[in-house]
Amino acid sequence: MTHPLPAELAEPHLLSLLTAMGLDVEYVRAEGNTLYFLDEADTEVPVLDMLGGYGSLIFGHNHPEIVAHAQELLAAQVPVHAQFSRRAEAHRTAEAFNQAIRRETGVEEPYYAVFGNSGAEAIEIAMKHAELARRTRLDAITAEIAAHLETARAAVAAGTAELHASTDARLTEYGVDCADPGSFHSVVTALTEANEAAVGRPPLFLALSRAFHGKLTGSVQLTHNPDFRLPFGALAAQARFVPLNDPDALSKVIEAERVPLFDVALVDGAVQVVRRDLPVFAAFVVEPIQGEGGVNPVSAEFAEAIQRECAALECPVVVDEIQSGMGRTGALLASSLIGLRGDYYALAKSLGGGLAKTSVTLFRESVYESAFELMHSSTFAKDAFSTSIAHKVIQMLEADDGRAYRTAAERGARLASKLEEVKAEFPGVVKDVRGKGLFLGFEFHDQAAAVQAVLGAELPPGSFGYLISGYLLIEHRIRVAPTASAVQTLRLEPSIHLTDAEIDRFVAALRDVCTILEERDGQAFRLLFNL
Ligand code: F0G
Repeated sequence: MTHPLPAELAEPHLLSLLTAMGLDVEYVRAEGNTLYFLDEADTEVPVLDMLGGYGSLIFGHNHPEIVAHAQELLAAQVPVHAQFSRRAEAHRTAEAFNQAIRRETGVEEPYYAVFGNSGAEAIEIAMKHAELARRTRLDAITAEIAAHLETARAAVAAGTAELHASTDARLTEYGVDCADPGSFHSVVTALTEANEAAVGRPPLFLALSRAFHGKLTGSVQLTHNPDFRLPFGALAAQARFVPLNDPDALSKVIEAERVPLFDVALVDGAVQVVRRDLPVFAAFVVEPIQGEGGVNPVSAEFAEAIQRECAALECPVVVDEIQSGMGRTGALLASSLIGLRGDYYALAKSLGGGLAKTSVTLFRESVYESAFELMHSSTFAKDAFSTSIAHKVIQMLEADDGRAYRTAAERGARLASKLEEVKAEFPGVVKDVRGKGLFLGFEFHDQAAAVQAVLGAELPPGSFGYLISGYLLIEHRIRVAPTASAVQTLRLEPSIHLTDAEIDRFVAALRDVCTILEERDGQAFRLLFNL
């Protein structure tokens, strides 16, 4: 070959960053909470996986029951791709979801399912559907206004009505430009123009500060981190971000975005201008516990405020359970633990049992637009292999009266109590332990000043958590990760099969890290930060 290929072709820049942090390990096998890489002698080296595929491994890597199910499907030559035919496994999965949601939330109304292939896709399906529903509402409102205008026009033409004396003042108050406020025709033209401008505006979405809902062109607009979002702001409808657990701020954001639509009413022979609200927001998308943002739970009080405000706006609540759902918090839906009811739910990650790549968006019957089914599709979505595995995963969660949920809660509580002990031992190093079940965040105090003082060096921005992760991997054979949006926080999402011994191993390793950070010994510090 005259022109040799580069050494790495699959995102080589990312690989060089991993190398710099000691994270460029190639795993060759995985089972349960253990990943294996090969050392120089080709011997398998086990690594304890506390990250769990970013929350996609509720039953661990290659769970034998799920693997056996996948093998059976393949051996039976299941028709993986038979689009535009009856998809029985998709139906069974949706039915299992409905039964589990009924059991957990007491909501009897059915939820209809639209399957996708990834978390971001599930969110974009929700966004598209929400916009379709908003458009439907908007069409109904504009048709109503047109009918009212027609009635008024007929009454004025027949001489049985005239413009109300307050019209000029109303138009001024509402900021509507009108050439001749005394002329019915002129007023109607001005109101119609204002309405057309309002109706033509793109929708807005509501989301929370530090939210993460995906990185495709639509979903990334709801992902708060400006580094991910801002370069792509021109590509799709925008979100307004509300600070977490701040009901007053939510009301203010909604108030600030009000856009009027103008209607008329015929009262006692007078045509009055009436102000209505444009449905500005297509949906409020919310994670019950923020994952990528650093494991931040939504409070029950804030959930209630979201529910109340959205009901008033007739704006659907989209609960993003992509990371928090599928049992991790001790419930199928983390939102059920705070009384947050979704008009839509989005699920992915652990839905695929660690083997399949699948997602689902569920829609409450009363807000479902069946026309959507003919507007949205994806070649791979709803395939028999993935949906059958998803069905298996739900069955495993629901088995034995929900033993898996209880295990997640119990294992999580044990892990959390040990993390709290570490926090109590190292109050100057550990800032916070938070989360629910097996969805925990372990936050360190900012160490930038200590690194500067001890080593006279600055850490590359955003690198703290990754460097700690590299150290834990190299020195302790433990895999963790911070998040790109909360680099001081380690996110812990092991499977429900986490053993006491694994918890103890992990906690001992954390104590080692905390001891180094507390003692500020130069050599240990240098090793910890790979400097
Ligand atoms: N929503 C939530 C709550 C997520 O955590 C993620 C992904 C997505 C949507 C998008 O899903 O990656 O399948 O398209 N979270 C990963 C993380 C990337 O770091 O937590 P995706």
